[in-house]
Amino acid sequence: MQLLEERILKDGIVKPGNVLKVDSFLNHQMDIEFINELGKEFKRRFADAPITKILTIEASGIGIACLVAQYFHVPVVFAKKAQSLNLDGEMFTSKVESFTHKKVYDVILSKKFLGPEDHVLLIDDFLANGCALMGLIDIVNKSRATLEGAGIVIEKGFQEGGKKIRDMGVRLESLAIVDSMTDDSLTFRPNN
Ligand code: G4P
Ligand code: NA
Ligand code: NA
Repeated sequence: MQLLEERILKDGIVKPGNVLKVDSFLNHQMDIEFINELGKEFKRRFADAPITKILTIEASGIGIACLVAQYFHVPVVFAKKAQSLNLDGEMFTSKVESFTHKKVYDVILSKKFLGPEDHVLLIDDFLANGCALMGLIDIVNKSRATLEGAGIVIEKGFQEGGKKIRDMGVRLESLAIVDSMTDDSLTFRPNN
């Protein structure tokens, strides 16, 4: 998506360790009118999918998912991250090992908010190694809902998450795919 690529080139900052900071417009300060345009683009790409629910994970996915949801006219449900689990049987849970943060956490979601009748679109800001997204997919499977696809704002194409998710047969739409980045150059994979 050209608008997004231009914004990343203008305001994104590459940090050591292959981290792309976009916190002036996407995941700390948020440019709402801009993110609204991303919402329209996700709707265009998933126009044929009978989405009943948007699922994301705290924290930075939530605000983005809310703006996207306006165009699908469906609720947003966000999974929570928990360090230790008080299992009471009322929650879907999945264990996530974050490669980036070198920590293990549980992704949890109340069973009340996802079930076999649902058609789910996953939304998140970044896809890197994909551990968080794999956790969400696991939860969708446990709920026996139908996974319609995943919409990601920025995929880091040089990390393994995108390939892993596509190889599972999941319809993955990333609005920008960064193929390489250094202090003074950033390249995108051609992608509508
Ligand atoms: P992982 O397996 O390495 O943990 O990869 P994953 O794709 O799950 O990403 C881990 C976390 O790091 C995610 O946020 C993701 O948004 C963030 N992330 C990965 N690469 C970048 C990057 O280049 N720039 C920025 N800004 N973030 C990146 P999180 O910590 O799980 O959650 P939250 O920030 O949404 O609370
Ligand atoms: Na995130
Ligand atoms: Na993040």
